[in-house]
Amino acid sequence: MATKLWGSRFTGSLSKLSEKFTYSISYDSKLALYDCIASIAHAEMLGAQGIIPKKDAAAIVKGLNTIIGSIEAGTFKYDASAEDIHTDIQVQLKKLVGDAADRLHTARSRNDQVVTDVRLYCLNHLENIMARLDVLQISIVKFADKNQDVIIPAYTHLQSAQVVLLAHQMLAYVEMLERDKGRFEDAAKRTSLNTLGACALSGTTLPTDRQRVTKDLGFLATSANSMDAVADRDFLIEIASDIAITGMHLSRMCEDLIIWVTSEFNFVSLDDAFCTGSSIMPHKKNPDVLELIRGTSSKFPGRLMELLVLMKGLPLTYNRDMQMDKPALFDCVETIEDMLALMAEVFSGITIKRDVLKERVNAEYFFSVDILDHLVKKGMSYRQAHDTVGLMVKECLDKGQSIKGLSLAQLKRFSPLLDNDVKDLLSAEVSVKGKKSFGSTNPLLVRKQIDQWKKRLK
Ligand code: ARG
Repeated sequence: MATKLWGSRFTGSLSKLSEKFTYSISYDSKLALYDCIASIAHAEMLGAQGIIPKKDAAAIVKGLNTIIGSIEAGTFKYDASAEDIHTDIQVQLKKLVGDAADRLHTARSRNDQVVTDVRLYCLNHLENIMARLDVLQISIVKFADKNQDVIIPAYTHLQSAQVVLLAHQMLAYVEMLERDKGRFEDAAKRTSLNTLGACALSGTTLPTDRQRVTKDLGFLATSANSMDAVADRDFLIEIASDIAITGMHLSRMCEDLIIWVTSEFNFVSLDDAFCTGSSIMPHKKNPDVLELIRGTSSKFPGRLMELLVLMKGLPLTYNRDMQMDKPALFDCVETIEDMLALMAEVFSGITIKRDVLKERVNAEYFFSVDILDHLVKKGMSYRQAHDTVGLMVKECLDKGQSIKGLSLAQLKRFSPLLDNDVKDLLSAEVSVKGKKSFGSTNPLLVRKQIDQWKKRLK
């Protein structure tokens, strides 16, 4: 049986089934590196404060660095029969440096140790996530830039609404991802809190220097309340919530693309690298990668709920339930990292069907709002203009007639303010160029936005 950090008070031992049910090493082994890093800062502080002999501190640090070396080389092996990674590293350290290792756990508990390790894990992965968001944004901006002249139909209620530049829709995604990044940045501020040194829950009688550990580990602040330090997991719930929002954004991007690649829409095609075929229907090319990003994103709200429910009924301070924060957290973090990287690849493998789009965007109904604005500019009230254009569109639809084909007399029947010049509005290029408001799909404004994003994302 593997060593435990708490054996002496017990005469009996844990049942096999209890061990299987309570041990966390199968998943918290991911914390090995962070555990060593935090322990080095802790041991150095203990030595400097004279709480443990300097030579023991030095031996501990040397041993932990050896373990870090093996983690980095990929040769680190944890003992699967150990209770958790914190126990395992303590045991491995003792094998490396002997009795000095027994002094490492001075003035700390696994309660403050585990939450500190998780904070370090989160900070590292928040960096990864933000970097991957950058890469995805760059990939989308590149795609928008390359196709900046392409006009597409845009939808509300998935019904044809108005035409926009493809680049405009792409930059909508970029804006969403930028806010996602902001949320992760913000979460990092609250995650960057040194909880080590809170010990079990009340602090210690030993003369520790917590600020030193804070500085050595690169945390922004030191937790000011030892009970809060070991009891809360709000930082990782916040991260899971931010991940759920990003997942929702990725899912919607996928949904747009899935619709666009159907033979009915046929706006774009996807590189074979992101599609699979059907075992029975030889003509099929399915956008499975997109579907699985959309599908996988459903786990984030589930995991977020799991974490909220896990924590909501727990009395202060640490409870073993909290061990279950890790499978949920790791799953969210590592899945979103993969999804972001994959999504960036997808955007470099999209081909626009220019001819199809050129034809689709000239359907006259796309320009009804432009005609309406035209009448408003001539002095008509908005409500009256809406009625006028509504009647005109209805009559044309009923009679299977185009607006372009209406004579001047026919136009005047709807309003004396209507002239043949209204027909100039019936083009996709004119429609997008006609938009003037800040944030609109006007090509010059969109160009400016693309340039700004290119600069910003460099
Ligand atoms: N493995 C535990 C966790 O992940 C840490 C151990 C704390 N155990 C304890 N009995 N205080 O939360």
